[in-house]
Amino acid sequence: MSDHFQTILNRRMNRRLFLKKSALASTVAIAPSLSLPSFATSTMGSNTTSSFDFQEITHGISDQLVVAPGYDANVLIRWGEPLFTDAPAFDVNKQTPFAQERQFGYNNDYIGYLPLPAKNTEKRALLCINHEYSLPKMMFPDISAEKDLTLEHINIEQSSVGNSIVEIAMMNGEWKLVLDSPFNRRITARTTQIDIAGPARGHARMKTHADSSGTLVTGTLMNCAGGMTPWGTYLTCEENFNNVFTGSLPANHKEEKSYERYGINHRKSGWGEHDARFNVSQEPNEANRFGWVVEIDPLSPEKKPKKRSALGRFKHEGAESVIAPSGQLVVYMGDDAANEYLYKFVSTDSVDKTNIQNNLNLLDEGTLYVARFGESGGVLWMPLVHNTGPLTAKHGFFSQADVVINARMAADLLKATPLDRPEDVVPNASTGKVYVLLTNNTKRQQEHVDGVNPRAHNKYGQIVEITEPKGDFASTKSQWEMLVVAGDPNDKNVGAKWHKNTSDNGWFACPDNAVVDHNGRLWVSTDQGDIAYETGTNDGLWGLETEGEERGTGKMFLRCPEGAETTGPMFSDDGTSLFVAIQHPGVGSSESGRDSLHHPVNRWPDDDKNNPPRPSIVVVQKHDGKAIG
Ligand code: FEO
Ligand code: CA
Ligand code: CA
Ligand code: CA
Repeated sequence: MSDHFQTILNRRMNRRLFLKKSALASTVAIAPSLSLPSFATSTMGSNTTSSFDFQEITHGISDQLVVAPGYDANVLIRWGEPLFTDAPAFDVNKQTPFAQERQFGYNNDYIGYLPLPAKNTEKRALLCINHEYSLPKMMFPDISAEKDLTLEHINIEQSSVGNSIVEIAMMNGEWKLVLDSPFNRRITARTTQIDIAGPARGHARMKTHADSSGTLVTGTLMNCAGGMTPWGTYLTCEENFNNVFTGSLPANHKEEKSYERYGINHRKSGWGEHDARFNVSQEPNEANRFGWVVEIDPLSPEKKPKKRSALGRFKHEGAESVIAPSGQLVVYMGDDAANEYLYKFVSTDSVDKTNIQNNLNLLDEGTLYVARFGESGGVLWMPLVHNTGPLTAKHGFFSQADVVINARMAADLLKATPLDRPEDVVPNASTGKVYVLLTNNTKRQQEHVDGVNPRAHNKYGQIVEITEPKGDFASTKSQWEMLVVAGDPNDKNVGAKWHKNTSDNGWFACPDNAVVDHNGRLWVSTDQGDIAYETGTNDGLWGLETEGEERGTGKMFLRCPEGAETTGPMFSDDGTSLFVAIQHPGVGSSESGRDSLHHPVNRWPDDDKNNPPRPSIVVVQKHDGKAIG
């Protein structure tokens, strides 16, 4: 890392620390406002005292991306666009693994933003983008079902997922991709070498035919959400990694119980049909090498990413972090599956704000905690530490490596609270609060309804707010309360809870990603799947009041085209640009038959019959160039 970047990052860190300090003072002062919001279930109001100054858009289903009046939304980069001049232009009929390794990947999700020094007054930044999963029927014109896939197709898929790091520059008020930037980079499931760091490094359960040391993995995959650390590295989260594995473990294999718990054993379709590495009958340990948080240094393209095993192995959704008053880093993480848990990792060492190099292995040592929510508003964070409580050899935990590899089973033993699919978990450094987005859980039974999971067969999700005592994010005892219970407040059967000033367009269902803006306000994006046709709106992005009189009021800002999902919302550091990832555009349900590139719901963004719909990053700016919202 050059000295110049060091200075920039130091400045960023000092600013964060300053914000945190001033915020902690105000947290103490405003503590009495932690009272319950005034919930209403039906009366709709006019939203006149909103802290968001944009004009609300309406719910709806259409082929267009719609944003509030006075704002523009422009496509910045599409799936398949070259990041380097040696890459071919995108041609859906001439895809190759090599081309995809040099082009922007598929199904963008998380977006991280890292400002760079301006050049000739041009603003510049790096975007760190996840490419979550491939969709063969939407990618390849020459297949009609997944059974038609060949090894070549799978290699293209493996090269289409992972991450893109791209440099962007502001030219005449518009962000553009910087072709051939030395920071441009693809990290893929097929070719990128990634170190294993932390307690699982070198453990017998991490060893494979290709890696007898258990220290080096090819690739990262199913990268859903993520986070940026205060020292400017990018955390990318491996979520539904079990989906790529095929086959059954050899009889009586020692991983059997673990693989059942993680949904890996006996899967019929996946990359393992053509690629032995992903067939658990042939490579039984490979699946232990996925399901981690991976740290990437975007400013050092020559450096290998690292899987940070101390943060545990599960279906990681995101990894947003914040510095505790002690100086330790706290990373909040959800395990996104029905009835899974909420975790946080607290580093042993403090963040060094004067020398970034001292933070580069900070995530290898610390304590991983899992949450238990009490009915009276308490949250207990329980340590997942070998030889603590039941995490002993008697229960199959012979070392901390076993604890992190089987984090779910360790959390089961500690009686953590099963949640309604924890997606993003977002701390607000300036208030000491943490927002836990629980997306939905139709598997929840009536007898398992509790305070944080208040509905059976929950189709709509909820947002739970955790308050860390006096802003101490490292605390093991916190408080929780409900922010909103999502869904239509006009329908009594839904059981939604919003502030009464929420309009007919201000409510949403299935919260997935969230971001705190430069004013400390929350923005929430949704992932409804097929219930869009029940709620009557495509997925989108809403401002959500979290403080004061209007707490619990939503306001709709952006709506994505039919078939797509709005992911990865992220603001530029000055708050004047909002980056949004439009994932799986044009994809209808399999019942509708409109789930292939020959019959998509639409061909967003270009509406060109020779092109499939293309996942893309959109940038939103206000006409007057001022801060958004
Ligand atoms: Fe990939 Fe939990 O969403
Ligand atoms: Ca989701
Ligand atoms: Ca997600
Ligand atoms: Ca999603």
